[in-house]
Amino acid sequence: MANLLLHSLKEFDEIIFALLERAKPRSVLEIGSETGAFSDRLMRLCEDTGAELVTVEPEPAPHLIERALTSERFHLYKGLSLPFLEGVGCRSEFVLIDGDHNHHTVFHELMLIERAWAAQGIEGTILLHDVGWPCARRDAYYGPGVIPPEALHAHSYEHGTTLDRNELIAGGFRGCGAFAWAKHEGGPRNGVRTAVDDFLREHPRFVYNAVDAVFGLGAVTVRGTKAQRDVDEVFAPYDNALIRRLERNRLELYLKVIELQDALDAERARHAPANDASPAIETAWEVAS
Ligand SMILES: C[S@@+](CC[C@H](N)C(=O)[O-])C[C@H]1O[C@@H](n2cnc3c(N)ncnc32)[C@H](O)[C@@H]1O
Repeated sequence: MANLLLHSLKEFDEIIFALLERAKPRSVLEIGSETGAFSDRLMRLCEDTGAELVTVEPEPAPHLIERALTSERFHLYKGLSLPFLEGVGCRSEFVLIDGDHNHHTVFHELMLIERAWAAQGIEGTILLHDVGWPCARRDAYYGPGVIPPEALHAHSYEHGTTLDRNELIAGGFRGCGAFAWAKHEGGPRNGVRTAVDDFLREHPRFVYNAVDAVFGLGAVTVRGTKAQRDVDEVFAPYDNALIRRLERNRLELYLKVIELQDALDAERARHAPANDASPAIETAWEVAS
């Protein structure tokens, strides 16, 4: 089961590095780094090109902290994206957003980056992960406590998402304590894709492209710029019905694996001796990792 769930930006290596090669940014901003799997790749590129990498992550992996202490090119901010963007701004022409996947966070990340870029005359590239199912039209919260109450949807840590269902279900794809899902899908100010739509309405000079695989990779660029032409060219081979069918099939198969795993765990728990201390239910996340 190890590594069964594709979920890291590293699955988009060919696409993201093709864009970086064309853009040749002086600075790259990465929001959300988790294990640092993709940060490590970005760091190697920055070493080769002389660019700087700025990573914002509330719980950085220990090796990233060590690296930041010795590297002149790698800047690590331990914290959340919105205070960072409000305080420091954004001097990077290439931004990867993969932090807290909810409308409030992503909408304001985009707005703050736009404001910083407008002040500096930057017309760069913003990539966003999780623009597809399940986060497209449903908020996820790593820390509901940091979201203003008026922007926070009713949510659950226990229940999971499944395809074609507005409500959460017992089982399904779930965060098992790591993050919560909004209880309902769709409607205003709900989900990452909705945040992008709302940003584009406020700033119509920006355009949106997407690759509908591995939970969706979106790109936001200024219309008519080289950055937009690069995205058009690099995304074109991946923007088709076959990719969408494969993603749908991948999700259906993964949800089936979770369902079977849950049934197996429930069966094991029924037969376990009363004093068996082993965990009865393996989590969906453990199935994936
Ligand atoms: C999906 S993981 C990132 C995966 C990583 N980009 C990759 O592709 O391997 C999301 C990460 O965002 C972090 N995070 C959550 N809220 C955040 C925020 N407001 N700002 C920055 N990072 C955040 C989480 O701690 C988590 O490590």
